[in-house]
Amino acid sequence: MSTSETKAAASEAVRKHKEFLFPAVATYYREPLALVRGEGMHVWDDRGNRYLDCFGGVLTVSVGHANPRVNAAIIEQVKTLQHTSTLYANEPQSNLAEKLHQITPGRLKKSFFTNSGTEADDTAIHAAKLATGRHEIVVLRHSYSGRSATALSATGHSTWRPLPPQVAGIVHARAPYCYRCPFKLTYPECGLACAEDIEDLIMTSTTGEIAAFMAEPILGVGGFIVPPPGYFERAVEISRNHGGLFIADEVQTAWGRTGDKWFGIEHWDAEPDIITSAKGLGNGVPVGITTATPEVADKFPGLSFSTFGGNPVSMAAALAVIRVIEEDDLKTNAAVVGAYLRQRLEELKDKHPVIGDVRGLGLMQALELVKDRETKEPAPDDLLRVFEETRRRGVLIGKGGLYGNVIRTGLMLNSTKDTVDEMIDALGAAFATI
Ligand SMILES: Cc1ncc(COP(=O)(O)O)c(C=O)c1O
Repeated sequence: MSTSETKAAASEAVRKHKEFLFPAVATYYREPLALVRGEGMHVWDDRGNRYLDCFGGVLTVSVGHANPRVNAAIIEQVKTLQHTSTLYANEPQSNLAEKLHQITPGRLKKSFFTNSGTEADDTAIHAAKLATGRHEIVVLRHSYSGRSATALSATGHSTWRPLPPQVAGIVHARAPYCYRCPFKLTYPECGLACAEDIEDLIMTSTTGEIAAFMAEPILGVGGFIVPPPGYFERAVEISRNHGGLFIADEVQTAWGRTGDKWFGIEHWDAEPDIITSAKGLGNGVPVGITTATPEVADKFPGLSFSTFGGNPVSMAAALAVIRVIEEDDLKTNAAVVGAYLRQRLEELKDKHPVIGDVRGLGLMQALELVKDRETKEPAPDDLLRVFEETRRRGVLIGKGGLYGNVIRTGLMLNSTKDTVDEMIDALGAAFATI
């Protein structure tokens, strides 16, 4: 096929997407991008344009597109054994479960494997209900848990919820969102009012005894909202006083993303009874994990089954991703390069009044855009402008926040300071057009 034929054929991807997919399958950018290839930090579209990928398909390509070590593990496994279902043991699944026991905090030991973050969170909520015999769950406003009935009921965004909550017994606590404090207070004088409010929420909106408190260590889709120091310690203490387990939803925050630690929750002194994750563990291969203490896992009665859960190819990919993170010390890299990124983003904030807040941990950093730094009125239109301008300059970034006004960056864990500089140059030029 000639280059022009390739281009004509590839453009069909967007046309067919619009004609044959649910319109709900929304795409970024005024003219949607059709991607055809990825290698390392870069992706290419069907026009032959190359982009620096600073979002990794939502923090999912963690160690580079087509990482040779991960690909080699996938190819080897595909050639050996592709599928078993959970009805048979397979070595990669057993090895990954053992590895998760070794690297997860506290007493977490036993895993249930699925295909996505949604399923991981569903499994965790079921496990908490079964282990405690209670049925109510406290979650956070501005959280995101996925697309199932349970996960949508837990999600704290009207924007992602096409139907009212379908699952009863899920109540939403105030988010630890310091930039827009729901109590109009300032840390630390606030006395962690958002955490304290969980007591009132449980006493007023539940039976007084809960199955679990489930929270993201950093609210990802919510716009990388980082809870203040001491938040999880107090929130988990209150939840435990009412019989609740603690589920840390690490779908976005795990695998070294936040710097120095495997899991985001390790930045606080709060021990989860269950961790869920997905995304960056597979580097693009579908995988979901629910890892629990033996007491919790052992109370989940059989039968339970997942056709693709523990799929040997996904498991081999996940093991390879963890190996790459260890061999290349990418947790440290995320801390070092993340600190540099943070400094460069703060410099952007000094220059551009539209940036109201810079926040994040490690290589999970965001910019919240506002029309006015005093009123903090969200600036989603300016965000769209920055999106189009950075795309024109060959850089892909992410979006988030309830108001669609937060730029999310999810550079790959093996990014360098040069990668950061390239992204900052594009962002700076884009902000200059506002
Ligand atoms: C924190 C969190 N939990 C759960 C999910 C759902 O994951 P998935 O889209 O893989 O079902 C997401 C997806 O973005 C997420 O960010």
